[in-house]
Amino acid sequence: MNKIKIVSTGKYLPPKILTNFDLEKMVDTSNEWIVTRTGIKERRIVEDTVATSDIATFAAKECLDKAGVSPDEIDTIIVATITPDMFFPSTACIVHKKLGGKNEPFSFDISAACSGFVYGLAIAESLLRTAKSKKLLLIGAETLSKVTNWKDRNTCVLFGDGAGAMLLSTTTDENESDGIISTYLSSDGNYDNLLYIPAGGSRMPATKETVEKNLHTITMSGKEVFKVAVTKMVESVIRCCQEANITPQQLDLLIPHQANLRIINAVGERLNLDPQKVFVNVDRYGNMSAATTIVGLDEAISQGRIKKGSLVGLVAFGGGFTWGAAILRI
Ligand code: UT7
Repeated sequence: MNKIKIVSTGKYLPPKILTNFDLEKMVDTSNEWIVTRTGIKERRIVEDTVATSDIATFAAKECLDKAGVSPDEIDTIIVATITPDMFFPSTACIVHKKLGGKNEPFSFDISAACSGFVYGLAIAESLLRTAKSKKLLLIGAETLSKVTNWKDRNTCVLFGDGAGAMLLSTTTDENESDGIISTYLSSDGNYDNLLYIPAGGSRMPATKETVEKNLHTITMSGKEVFKVAVTKMVESVIRCCQEANITPQQLDLLIPHQANLRIINAVGERLNLDPQKVFVNVDRYGNMSAATTIVGLDEAISQGRIKKGSLVGLVAFGGGFTWGAAILRI
């Protein structure tokens, strides 16, 4: 089995900032409510003409530039997203075009909502271990602002746009330690109606009426999602650590999905982690679904909070419900 190297990471956050004070002018909410209940202060929003493939490509370019790798060398592109540019072709194929590679990589999207990047890591691991892939670009990218009901205060204060990318390769270098230590994935479709977009698919195709009723936007039963999210994220970290033969306290940093500061804190407390070892950026970006953990990882590396050799846990939970964790050696 091949050894895997995490070569580089990159990210892209759109420059436009939407603050809680801006939202106060749009719906019946307050900065105080949003900060106390979620920890979010601001989020990034793309311009109307920008699609998920655009920001995914920016993140991918930064990642490839850091590694000095040409798009021509990439043999696999995976994009985790629930806001693809369109049903098909996949956002991954569009990213291939935008990167300008002359190669013909194997490219596809995965739909696992907020757990998408962690799911992607497990898929990437299988492809690299078995040499089906040798240089793989894994991207988590979302333009959730495009599927947000800006009149619904229950949801519109929560989400943001952003993208993150990771370049992974096989390695034969004996001095390199293995980059993916363990992964754990799970789901339960019985919760499918607690966090979803009702219309626009084959169940309820787009009509004038579905659009008028805002059925193409995110619908969530926040309280129910909250409870399951905490339980399943804690369980995922424990299971993934067991597989890696370590305790959660041995992680140098845990990067949890960034949906709500209260969820992040509850996960850290239940795992008995020093708060310094739990990464938070939800205050600046809100919930970016599949982009959250990879943007967090890229920021943690650039802030010097983790460095080569650090043991990092990623854990996520989202619509489906889906959940999972990955333990990486950076
Ligand atoms: O990414 C996938 C995972 N997603 C999540 O994990 C999200 C999980 N859920 C949550 O983060 C929280 O449940 C929310 C932040 C969505 C909501 O927080 P909550 O503490 O569960 O509040 P709530 O839904 O019970 O609402 C409490 C009150 C309600 O008013 P009443 O019925 O008590 O009068 C809401 O109508 O707060 C009201 N409310 C708001 N008030 C001001 C709901 N949204 C707002 C708002 N501004 N934006």
